[in-house]
Amino acid sequence: MTIRIPMMGEIAPSFWARTTHGEVNFPKDYEGKWVIFFSHPGDFTPVCTTEFMVFAKMHAEFRQLNTELLGLSVDSVQSHISWLCSIKEKVEFNGISGVDVEFPIVEDKGLSIVKKYGMLQPSENKRYMRDIQYIQADKATDENEIINTQPVRGIFIIDPQSRIRYIAFYPLSNGRNLDEIKRILQAIQKTDSQNVDTPVNWNPGDDVIVRTPLSYEDAKKRMEDKELKCSEWYICLKEDKS
Ligand code: BEZ
Repeated sequence: MTIRIPMMGEIAPSFWARTTHGEVNFPKDYEGKWVIFFSHPGDFTPVCTTEFMVFAKMHAEFRQLNTELLGLSVDSVQSHISWLCSIKEKVEFNGISGVDVEFPIVEDKGLSIVKKYGMLQPSENKRYMRDIQYIQADKATDENEIINTQPVRGIFIIDPQSRIRYIAFYPLSNGRNLDEIKRILQAIQKTDSQNVDTPVNWNPGDDVIVRTPLSYEDAKKRMEDKELKCSEWYICLKEDKS
């Protein structure tokens, strides 16, 4: 099987899998909803644990945005369950504890899904393993199992028509910023619902960008529109009244 990162605008690659919440037929089971589909390197690891705890805390906020969370690692469902029990019963992070992770986590023991989503990036694994001196810099390590099987932190936002709208990959060593994931999700949803673009560092409530004029006539009209804040014909913002 070829390994390729699917691109924004493409339909999310399909798969069938076991999860902590039963079987999933992806993306069909999620049609009509937004999905945040993300990989993590492995169960029982510290950075991933903090990510899962905060994803779980934000689960209701994402649901309010018609968005489901779907995690994945190459560990088994049994391992996922055991890890989730440990998180709920024993782990405290930044004042959060007793966290119940209620969204599904996919099992991908055969690596077929991580390959379809370009989540296997062995050079990053090699870098990390050398950094922590798990492997020696001068050893031939391409056969090392962890290097070739442990996914990086991939994250895909998929829209209700199953189209990929956002992609990010994070290093093994660094947790994701889930406030940013929520922000970009809301920005994309704003674009879809109101045909507007969003400027740098946009947050809900901020002014939005009116899309580019398609004729000279339109360009002149928008400069005279009192509802718009145009400093030049090509950059017009307006208040977000919704
Ligand atoms: C972590 O989640 O802590 C982690 C997992 C794999 C490699 C490095 C860090």
